[in-house]
Amino acid sequence: MDDAANVRTGTEAACDPAEVCERPRAPIGLLAELTYRCPLQCPYCSNPLEMSGVREELSTSEWQDVLKQAADLGVLQLHLSGGEPCVRQDLELILGTAVKVGLYTNLITSGVTLSRDRLMQMADIGLDHVQLSIQDVDERNAEFISAYKGGFEKKRQVARWVKELGLPLTINVVVHRHNIENLPALIDFAVEMGAGRIEVANVQYYAWALKNRAALIPTRAQFMRSLEIAKEAQQRLKGILLFDVVAHDHYAVRPKPCMSGWGRSLIDITPTGKVLPCHACETIPGLEIDNVRQKPLAEIWLNGPAFQKFRGTSWMKEPCRSCERREIDWGGCRCQALAFTGDPANADPACELSAWHKDFVTIAEREAAAPSPPFIYRRIRQA
Ligand code: SF4
Ligand code: FES
Repeated sequence: MDDAANVRTGTEAACDPAEVCERPRAPIGLLAELTYRCPLQCPYCSNPLEMSGVREELSTSEWQDVLKQAADLGVLQLHLSGGEPCVRQDLELILGTAVKVGLYTNLITSGVTLSRDRLMQMADIGLDHVQLSIQDVDERNAEFISAYKGGFEKKRQVARWVKELGLPLTINVVVHRHNIENLPALIDFAVEMGAGRIEVANVQYYAWALKNRAALIPTRAQFMRSLEIAKEAQQRLKGILLFDVVAHDHYAVRPKPCMSGWGRSLIDITPTGKVLPCHACETIPGLEIDNVRQKPLAEIWLNGPAFQKFRGTSWMKEPCRSCERREIDWGGCRCQALAFTGDPANADPACELSAWHKDFVTIAEREAAAPSPPFIYRRIRQA
């Protein structure tokens, strides 16, 4: 299908079939970061280092308006996220609007603030799916990672409620040097809880995770072994548990298509209404970021300077520019390219063809071999 034909706004002409079309199609997913508030303090958090406080957050009606605009734009899936979305007391109202406008709704939660009644109310409203994050199946280690007491038992309880209420469940686990050895037990936990899917996500090193890289990075041997474990379990659990494995960038040869390609299918809206092509992109100097408080969402998606900046392939430098994978991985991650090479338009250093790849690997191997420094826990400023 012609890329442009998939947008429901009808404001643009069709692409020339002889050229690579760089006009956007409709976004598939919207990540609504309802708040940065969260009772956990995970050291790999993808929220920015400088987080806005509660008084600056979009109101209920502002979120409801954004969701209506998103549905009109053609968004299909809404991921209610944070921080911890359940700390918003108006979550049910926001969810209700999402259901009404026909969005598929996924609640991304740590579960620790949820009650069964609240979850039941959300199921009644029409919530489609719950993604529950866990830090480890070892209670003490889970407390160490999240700096939150009693979290694991609460998560076990929440997983049971999700299943009792007939909702599909995904277990998400961010893996790193402090829990990677427990992967078999983490997979067993997902099966025991009746999850249909497990996300085994190696840490992505930006925001808090970048600050904590030396404390999080596993060795190559640990990572390779975890891949084998996941592969074996995937075979064994066919028809029971789906696997979504996010590989470790430092031990890769080619990068992932970060955000499925910049400005191609995903929108991230921050608690204060900034509309981002990627949740970490505020680190990119000079990126002009629009806000739903000032502009319609469709206008931002189609023409916003931040979305245009790395959309398609025309911004690419060598080696991406002439690479046969340029429309497969879209040059990888702009934020990682910036963080490691100083230029977001460079190839992701996870790529073996990047001039920085060797250093990228060497640093990982050196840090992973050294003892772990203490965590710098995620903290939000109070406002
Ligand atoms: Fe991807 Fe660029 Fe590497 Fe090619 S050179 S594989 S496009 S990151
Ligand atoms: Fe921003 Fe990858 S995290 S493009």
